[in-house]
Amino acid sequence: MSAASEKTRVLTGITTTGTPHLGNYVGAIKPAIEASQDPNVQSYYFLADLHALIKCQDPRRVQESRLEIAATWLALGLDTDNAIFYRQSDIPEIPELTWMLSCVCAKGLMNRAHAYKASVAENEAAGNQDPDKGITMGLFGYPVLMAADILMFNANKVPVGRDQIQHIEMARDMAGRFNHLYKGQYFSLPEAAVDEKVEVLGGLDGRKMSKSYNNTIPLFVSEKKLLKLVRKIKTNSLEPGEPKDPDTCTLFQIFSAFASAEETAAMRDEYANGIGWGEAKNRVFEYLDEHLREPRERYQALLEDPGHIEQVLLKGAERARAEAAPLMDRLRQAAGLGRFV
Ligand code: TRP
Repeated sequence: MSAASEKTRVLTGITTTGTPHLGNYVGAIKPAIEASQDPNVQSYYFLADLHALIKCQDPRRVQESRLEIAATWLALGLDTDNAIFYRQSDIPEIPELTWMLSCVCAKGLMNRAHAYKASVAENEAAGNQDPDKGITMGLFGYPVLMAADILMFNANKVPVGRDQIQHIEMARDMAGRFNHLYKGQYFSLPEAAVDEKVEVLGGLDGRKMSKSYNNTIPLFVSEKKLLKLVRKIKTNSLEPGEPKDPDTCTLFQIFSAFASAEETAAMRDEYANGIGWGEAKNRVFEYLDEHLREPRERYQALLEDPGHIEQVLLKGAERARAEAAPLMDRLRQAAGLGRFV
């Protein structure tokens, strides 16, 4: 397989509201960068900054997060000659397609979206008169924008977390309806790719590492801050000398997500031999610090050169639009919005 059209098309978006943390790296960034190195794959990775506006109306945070996330992916070695890396908001065809899909998407389908239902349930639990209190059309129509992201590039595989599977199913539904209504194969049907092997990393308090739990270790904090955060990881009250269980230990899990099989096995022995928590934490800190030092330096250098990041993203947008624009023309034509002559 060599022609671009024969390659498997893998696409995923990153909502730009937070600062990337170790959990993002292990769960999404690392597997994505690895997948993009496969010559049989054409990958599309983008900053979902239009999605960011749904959750975050602080312009400084959105702007900062876009820059941080772009710098993170580049610092960790994303090859942008290979992968198409762009900002959603640089592709005007995406909101246009969102509208076309909105016009074939049943409202009832959106009523069943988990994110919307969760917000309604919260309102009901809080005893609000209006179950839609505080819910914007952006949140309600979130899956349509996501479907446009995916269908715009005819993605075959969409690597996502479990919570996003429903959105991919909805994208298939919209693709099928559009194809049927306008009698053509405009869109191929995407599939969610949920990698069971990819780990969900625990956070400082032992729950899943997540911005919403405020328990994260950001990827590129200073050495000092990293040490402080590793020391905060919750352990138990076992004393040095007492054997400890690695399999229920967040500290061990974080270590093993980064370390090789041999290094992990060695640490496992240390646990059995009763390594003290202070000592274990020092080891984990040293390991992380050593492995993050180089990308952290690249990250800092990138942040100091936003012009370079801008160029990279504009080049990505150009490549993306070279595919989006012709498809959009076909879709306009199909819907009766073509030129008169
Ligand atoms: N909704 C996804 C998330 O929150 C981000 C996203 C936006 C996305 N558009 C996408 C993921 C398209 C995959 C494909 O994680």
